[in-house]
Amino acid sequence: MQVQNKFNQNTKIIGVIGHPIKQSFSPLMHNISFELSGLNYLYLPFDVPPAALKDALKGMNALGIKGFNVTVPLKEKVLPLLKDVSEEASIIGAVNTIVNDEGTLRGYNTDVHGVIESLLPYKDEIAGAKVAVIGAGGAARGVIYALIRTFKVGHITIINRTDQIGESLKEYFSAKMLFTEMKSMPLVPPDLVETFRDSKLIVNTTSMGMYPNVDDSATTIKESFMNGQIVFDVVYNPVKTKLLRLAESQGATIVTGLKMFVEQGAKSYELWTGQKMPIDKVYKAIESYLIS
Ligand code: ATR
Repeated sequence: MQVQNKFNQNTKIIGVIGHPIKQSFSPLMHNISFELSGLNYLYLPFDVPPAALKDALKGMNALGIKGFNVTVPLKEKVLPLLKDVSEEASIIGAVNTIVNDEGTLRGYNTDVHGVIESLLPYKDEIAGAKVAVIGAGGAARGVIYALIRTFKVGHITIINRTDQIGESLKEYFSAKMLFTEMKSMPLVPPDLVETFRDSKLIVNTTSMGMYPNVDDSATTIKESFMNGQIVFDVVYNPVKTKLLRLAESQGATIVTGLKMFVEQGAKSYELWTGQKMPIDKVYKAIESYLIS
């Protein structure tokens, strides 16, 4: 057997930290990209319970780990532990990327970049429009920030299973971004038909519909969707979720989460390596690993 000695004293380590560390396609995406670009980097998953977060960051420094992606439930908790946090990440209140800049840990939110790249083709249509956002977690925060700051939408309805969390998020953005055109409501599909029909853009930011729960959907009521609407799901496996299939069957334009996933990854990659990710090649390579 021939053992390839690919990794050596010059290999730079990148990781994703979260708990539990669910199946993630980030290691696959970044390792493919390192390979394609001939970079001596390796990306690994690390299961870090919240109580160990502080030590994990100390370890990052001690071991010279170059960067982390941060996922549930650490995205919000990590903010006060970093030396420097970008303006967007600080307003959003969530960091998904850490760069170890020679001992200084800097936090960024690249999800916003993924959202912007995904919705850019529809910029003119959504400016000033009514939008429904399903979910009120970390992903929703990035989406709402981009909707207000970049796309200048007219009104946002936050729809969340736990109404109180949706209401708190509404209050948070009203105060932080001085955007008062918001309301929140609970996730009760029959009560939402009118809200959805009244929305130019509907965004699912929850994990509903994600593998293995492919039959979950925020709604199964087909009258919720119609021609002329844009429906965006941040879930990328399956690429076409149950929600997107229903919306498409009703004539709506659909935007899958795969572009957002690759674009947020590409932005993080650039922050760590200083190089552009070969996006088109990476996109094609990971698509074959996902459920269509
Ligand atoms: P993320 O950072 O990916 O957004 P999160 O911060 O844990 O993850 O947020 C998850 C969001 O998805 C929340 O809005 C959650 O609703 P609750 O506030 O009621 O917990 C929502 N969510 C997750 N699973 C859901 C499900 N099966 N049905 C409805 N909403 C769900």
